[in-house]
Amino acid sequence: MKDLLRTEHLTRDDVELLLDTAAQFAAEPLRSKDALAHKSVAIYMTKPSTRTRLASQTAVAHLGGSPIVLRGEDLQLGRGESIADTAKIFSGYCDALIVRTFAQSDVDELGKYASIPVINALTDDDHPTQLLADWLTIRETFGKDVSGRKFVYLGDGNNMAHSWLIMGAIMGAHVVAATPEGKWAPSAQAIATAKNIAAKSGATIEVTHDAQSAAKDASVLYTDVWMSMGDPESEKAEKIRALAPFAITDELMSKTSKDSIFMHCLPAHRGEEVMASVIDGPKSVIWREAFHRRTTIQSLLFHLTRGELKGSI
Ligand code: CP
Ligand code: NVA
Repeated sequence: MKDLLRTEHLTRDDVELLLDTAAQFAAEPLRSKDALAHKSVAIYMTKPSTRTRLASQTAVAHLGGSPIVLRGEDLQLGRGESIADTAKIFSGYCDALIVRTFAQSDVDELGKYASIPVINALTDDDHPTQLLADWLTIRETFGKDVSGRKFVYLGDGNNMAHSWLIMGAIMGAHVVAATPEGKWAPSAQAIATAKNIAAKSGATIEVTHDAQSAAKDASVLYTDVWMSMGDPESEKAEKIRALAPFAITDELMSKTSKDSIFMHCLPAHRGEEVMASVIDGPKSVIWREAFHRRTTIQSLLFHLTRGELKGSI
């Protein structure tokens, strides 16, 4: 596999390898400090980012490479240069490209025309690098055997909901997305992708509109912001009303298993999708999860640039 364009392109073996190496980078950040010596990694973002940008920059630095951060308006792309031409220029100067933008098809096209590895650092549809950090945190908490456990995402059926279902399917887990019905449910395509993978991996994929039953006996409750980057402000009031039953409260947490944890990709809005008492409470693992954004991106860069991931396509 040359790129990581979509979560669905990872195999379970790829994920296990990435998490094993990330755990080593957590313990010893500079263990491969020359892996990207004399190499450059472009980090191109047309949306804001705190964690992914810092994690990517520090990951490249820990591997001995030079990160080059570019904002959307920095490139000639905004003035009509094609994605194909831009991809070829990136390939001439750099050894990998990490990209965050709106359309998944733009990231797919960069991957197609670039000869260097291209990593999806969030699109409107998917957030694969976040799921690597999430699953390392899950593995650290519960171990590798996920049988009998339920992993529940609650809230907007957005990019995070899609990636949650698809990565859970790859990992053979029982994953649930509890979202409103209609336009804030996960896309039919993401659900179909997760179910196809689950048919082979033995995972269970559940999409529901009932937050209370979803939370019952869950090992993880996960949520994300209700207004994603690029969501129309004109829909905000209606959306917040529809999402209110999916907020993670102490009452909802009390329905989960005794050893359950709370997860959030961040940024968070306390008092909206999660109450402060939950996100800042004893079951929250958000800081460990955020820490693993660096360890997992470091691992991903390490293995992708060495051509060591198999991929499912
Ligand atoms: N979780 C995450 O992707 O955070 P940023 O948007 O700050 O990168
Ligand atoms: N769903 C959010 C995730 C942020 C990490 C967004 O796309 O803005």
